[in-house]
Amino acid sequence: MNSTRQISLVGFLQAQNCTTIPAAWRHPDARHDVTNVDFYRHVAQVLENGLFDLGFFDDRLAMPDMYGGDHVHTVEHGIRCLKLDPVTVLTTMGMATTKLGLGATYSTTYFPPFHVARVFSTLDHMTGGRAAWNVVTSVNDNEARNMGLLEAPPHDERYDRADEFMEVVHGHWDTWEGDAIIADRASGLYAHGDKVHRLDHKGEHYRSRGPFTVPRTPQGHPVIIQAGQSGRGVEFAARWGELLFMANPSLPRATENYEAVKAAVVAAGRDPDQVKIANLTFPVVGRTLSEAEDRQAAYDLLPNLVDDLSLLSEGLNFDFSNRELDEPLAPEDIDAMTGIQGIRNQVLEATGKENPTLRDFVRISGRGRLAHPVVGGPSELADYFEEWFTTPACDGFVIAGTHMPGAFEDFVELVVPELQRRGLFRTEYSGNTLRDHLGLSEPPPGAWRR
Ligand SMILES: Cc1cc2nc3c(=O)[nH]c(=O)nc-3n(C[C@H](O)[C@H](O)[C@H](O)COP(=O)(O)O)c2cc1C
Repeated sequence: MNSTRQISLVGFLQAQNCTTIPAAWRHPDARHDVTNVDFYRHVAQVLENGLFDLGFFDDRLAMPDMYGGDHVHTVEHGIRCLKLDPVTVLTTMGMATTKLGLGATYSTTYFPPFHVARVFSTLDHMTGGRAAWNVVTSVNDNEARNMGLLEAPPHDERYDRADEFMEVVHGHWDTWEGDAIIADRASGLYAHGDKVHRLDHKGEHYRSRGPFTVPRTPQGHPVIIQAGQSGRGVEFAARWGELLFMANPSLPRATENYEAVKAAVVAAGRDPDQVKIANLTFPVVGRTLSEAEDRQAAYDLLPNLVDDLSLLSEGLNFDFSNRELDEPLAPEDIDAMTGIQGIRNQVLEATGKENPTLRDFVRISGRGRLAHPVVGGPSELADYFEEWFTTPACDGFVIAGTHMPGAFEDFVELVVPELQRRGLFRTEYSGNTLRDHLGLSEPPPGAWRR
């Protein structure tokens, strides 16, 4: 392993009224000006001052209004009820920074591939090579209902379509040769006609002709982020992803999955060092361990049961509103949970029951809560990161916030210097593009066609 291997840090951001935890907006230090550009500029600058590789926005195309089939509880409790377009917000953050990588989530199920290819290659140009796209297939029927369908397509079918989607996107990204444009006034030649190609894609799910209208970008193409965790999802991630997110709750599980995913990358014919894995982490930081523990205890008073039930319904794509908390769920209920399979499987595995109760789901999934936080002062936090990174169980961390922007301000002030002192994290950016930060080389045109 490379001795200069260093931790990658990803700021897990939401262009919404809270972090992934609804209670975040109730935190006494939380800012509420989340529709104001100054808020996002500030967050971007905090992350850049902390030398983060990138900040990235998650996205959903619906409010979490599956619970009870109604949005009133969602807006009353402020459960991720605002959701701004992440790329627009990201662009403003790009204007407030010069180095920070900028990633956003767009769904392969609801946007046409030509559009997505154009949005992200434009972003890569506008930010001088700092763009990344988090590819998701979207799990939730209420997203489908907002976007012209009645329900989300079945899980594996979404990934089959997504594979073809990626072929179209990468195909378009490759159609402008790097030296196509010469803009020569003397000869009157703007670009070489034989260096701009038409894609002419006609597949099972998509047709897209081209030529594409955005030239090759500073990074070759934006970095591809993916977080598939099921068998089909990992197969997809191993084929396309360059930065993979995982949500492993324990070091042994993370180590096992790290090896399995890197092996899947090799099986897909790719170099495992060119695919970075970052694990989702919720730090609660204080100047000392006891201050951090006090902060955790105070935070745990903020969530409520409606937060949990609403986000469980959303995540599992199943309305729990007519289920009793302590009654075993029916086998048909378990089968009907077509959303994030990892949540369902985690509860079945941890309880050892075929028919867990709703309370089991609330308790074990921790959805809506600060579940599995890493709590401590700078040295406890750095010990944790060092152990996971050197095992190795990951190449970096997706840092999630308890509240905004304080969680990131604290992390940058307290944890980053300790990671630097231990030689685990950069002391300055060594390059300008996101690929430079992540140690990813520019993929040659057509490399994805393995
Ligand atoms: C850190 C992280 C961020 C994610 N962000 C999103 C997101 O913004 N939107 C979304 O629909 N899914 C998101 N997901 C869910 C994944 O795309 C994926 O659907 C999930 O991990 C389940 O894997 P599977 O699709 O293979 O079943 C995220 C997952 C992780 C671990």
